[in-house]
Amino acid sequence: MAIIGDDIAKAKQLLDEGKLVAIPTETVYGLAGNATDAKVVAKIFEAKNRPTFDPLIVHIHSLDRLEELVEPVSELAQKLMSAFWPGPLTVLLKRKEIIPDLVTSGLDTVAIRMPQHELARKLLSILSYPLAAPSANPFGYISPTTAQHVQDQLGDQIDYILDGGECSVGLESTIVSFEEDLPTVLRLGGISVEDIEEVVGKVIVNAHSSSQPQAPGMLKSHYAPSKNIITIDEFESLAPANTHGFGYLGFSDFDLRFDLNDQYLLSQNEDLNEAAKNLFTSLRALDQIPHLHTIVINFVPDLGLGRAINDRLKRASAK
Ligand code: TXA
Ligand code: MG
Repeated sequence: MAIIGDDIAKAKQLLDEGKLVAIPTETVYGLAGNATDAKVVAKIFEAKNRPTFDPLIVHIHSLDRLEELVEPVSELAQKLMSAFWPGPLTVLLKRKEIIPDLVTSGLDTVAIRMPQHELARKLLSILSYPLAAPSANPFGYISPTTAQHVQDQLGDQIDYILDGGECSVGLESTIVSFEEDLPTVLRLGGISVEDIEEVVGKVIVNAHSSSQPQAPGMLKSHYAPSKNIITIDEFESLAPANTHGFGYLGFSDFDLRFDLNDQYLLSQNEDLNEAAKNLFTSLRALDQIPHLHTIVINFVPDLGLGRAINDRLKRASAK
């Protein structure tokens, strides 16, 4: 079991020794290590059981560290960074040598993000290196939004979990690339497409699954709990004789076909920010109800953060 606490000096000490520490961010908890040390980065892949073709995000504290890590940044990228950093935006930039191959899976771009969470920022500000940090969950499982989620899943693999409370956004960062100077959203996330378009105009959204994903968060089946997950449409075509064993995850209204104790709602006020924050916790809670064999999910309005929520729900229910 890992120790859970809010001791930044202890987190720094462990990281300086080349160990991994779980850190809070506003999106989800990350499994962090020194991004410039290939041996440390290898430990991250190992702890998560993550395939090495799935590159990591590098977290920085301030813009003056950027020059060390990447080639000069385009005007468009700069606009987005100044609009949304610190915050749940990750940009793909041309990397420099200092970034080990393992971090980028050999790609010539590196994913960079400046998180907003106060504890993460304090920690980054006292480190002399940036932190590589994927979400702190075993590969393919639901991302953690509390220190306890990390403990439950990776507690045996790490010494320390820096506890920053419940993540305020609850969905991973939005990933944007700038190939041919065209801003392209590769992963829907904590900053909506609408908000991005207000800053840089129309963008391409290419967050679909494929057999050769550019971002494995794009893998069709991802974010999956261990129970069977089906959509409400699939449930209706199944038309089971009774709903015992079926749990329900809805947006704002209960569905009276299911036992009320086996239902979670993302936001009774129809607030998409609240829904995002509750998404992974609710999926996890349903996944842990012993008598359920199947979780039935319903989608939320497909706009703003709702698009990212629906993206995660689709992946969680993908076969
Ligand atoms: O909100 C977040 O982004 C969280 C917190 C901890 O910062 N991190 C996170 O990391 O979600 P992770 O590893 O679970 O997801 C990172 C995604 C992966 O799907 C990876 O494929 C993609 O970023 N990625 C990283 N570098 C890339 C690159 N150079 N090109 C394309 N995709 C990249
Ligand atoms: Mg992840």
